[in-house]
Amino acid sequence: MPTSPYRLRNRLFMAVMLGGVVISLTTLLPWPHDAGAAAVTRSIDVKAKQWAWELSDDKARVGEVIEFRVTSEDVNHSFALYDEQRQMLTQIQAMPGFVNKVRHRFTAPGNYQILCLEYCGLAHHGMVAAFTVHAAP
Ligand code: CUA
Repeated sequence: MPTSPYRLRNRLFMAVMLGGVVISLTTLLPWPHDAGAAAVTRSIDVKAKQWAWELSDDKARVGEVIEFRVTSEDVNHSFALYDEQRQMLTQIQAMPGFVNKVRHRFTAPGNYQILCLEYCGLAHHGMVAAFTVHAAP
């Protein structure tokens, strides 16, 4: 039988655990997240290599849901899409031997950028590609 200080500690522990479960449930709902829920309108192949991005297309239109299929031909990189305000919109690893998919719905026209977020060698900072989103016709 636990003594009084241990009982208090156990109750505190249970209260913290319960609080964690409640916070998790309320902040993670609705579940599952939107990933994959949007209908893909087009796919774009993305290949990373030291130190450049190779895209099968570098343009999209507002309203399109693009599935970026990201791989690497040498080392690990990280594909990160930024808008004109330099806010990151989505990100996924670029790994040799794997094709990782990430979807994004473009809601505004503009000059977007793709940057590498994983240190991949001397010219990591130069791994930047332009991506243009045009207004819907
Ligand atoms: Cu590629 Cu850093």
